[in-house]
Amino acid sequence: MAELIAADKAMDAALALLGAGEVVAIPTETVYGLAGDATNGEAVARIFEAKGRPRFNPLIAHVADMAMAERIGVFDPLSRKLAEQFWPGPLTLVVPLRPGSGIHPLVTAGLETIALRMPKGFGGTLISRLGRPLAAPSANSSGKISSTSGEAVASDLGARIPLVVDGGSTPVGLESTIVKVEDGRVRLLRPGGVPAGDIEEVAGAPLLRGVTAGIEAPGMLASHYAPGAAMRLNADAVAAGEALLGFGPRRADGWQQARAFLNLSETGDLREAATNLFAHLQALDRSGAELIAVEPIPFDELGEAINDRLARAAAPRDNPHV
Ligand code: TXA
Ligand code: MG
Repeated sequence: MAELIAADKAMDAALALLGAGEVVAIPTETVYGLAGDATNGEAVARIFEAKGRPRFNPLIAHVADMAMAERIGVFDPLSRKLAEQFWPGPLTLVVPLRPGSGIHPLVTAGLETIALRMPKGFGGTLISRLGRPLAAPSANSSGKISSTSGEAVASDLGARIPLVVDGGSTPVGLESTIVKVEDGRVRLLRPGGVPAGDIEEVAGAPLLRGVTAGIEAPGMLASHYAPGAAMRLNADAVAAGEALLGFGPRRADGWQQARAFLNLSETGDLREAATNLFAHLQALDRSGAELIAVEPIPFDELGEAINDRLARAAAPRDNPHV
């Protein structure tokens, strides 16, 4: 069973385990990550095993500074500008993998590109102390909701990993935004913690959306982030026995008869809603309701990423992303 150690006391234990090719769950500003040395194939294999993640789904490599990033990926001027603007922070850049980068091929699932991110806080310090990049997907069983607290990680993955570094609730609450520069234009591969509009301001042009050839971010398959309960989005009414996930001051009809009710943000604040999203979904799931009704949430700012995760959580499960 995983040890749960507070972040301010966990650095040495985390370094020792990572140096020995083990995996460690760590807090980042977005969600918790399940980290392993990205240059060590055994460590990376352990990440896939602990999550039950299919090996065709590549991982993000986390770096401590721009020099480390440039040793791993090839940066065009616009990717570099985005990195300068948003790193450290909740943006992941997909760039061509540099030959001789030392990244184990399991990390990229054999792709010629690599997803790179520079996290804030404990993760950033850990990587610079280790001196090596960390591969880290979200610290949850594959297909399930990402964890935004140390306890959530421990209850999902605790039996399969040695250490959870507990940094409390993650401030952003949603995974990073993933983009890729193509011929001087920025393509949005996954909405996330940096709103699309902020990236458009730096890029000076609207983002390209959707994928052109095949599935570029395999984790973007329809059913993902799935709670046990079924989900109904944009609900304007609740039936008895259903759970209700609210947003803002106005309530769906019949909300008093909901089996459980939680509000993402009383005031309709999208940042607060993002922070609460995964923890509230997990709590409503634990209420035992067979269905979670979700009130409408606007699509602007972080609302795009919130609606994206809810749509995946609500997608039919008969052909789930395992
Ligand atoms: O905020 C986050 O991004 C968190 C924290 C821990 O950093 N990590 C995270 O990782 O969400 P994960 O593995 O759950 O999601 C990474 C996504 C997956 O959908 C994967 O398919 C995609 O990134 N990805 C990784 N490498 C890629 C590449 N070379 N091209 C396109 N997509 C890629
Ligand atoms: Mg994930």
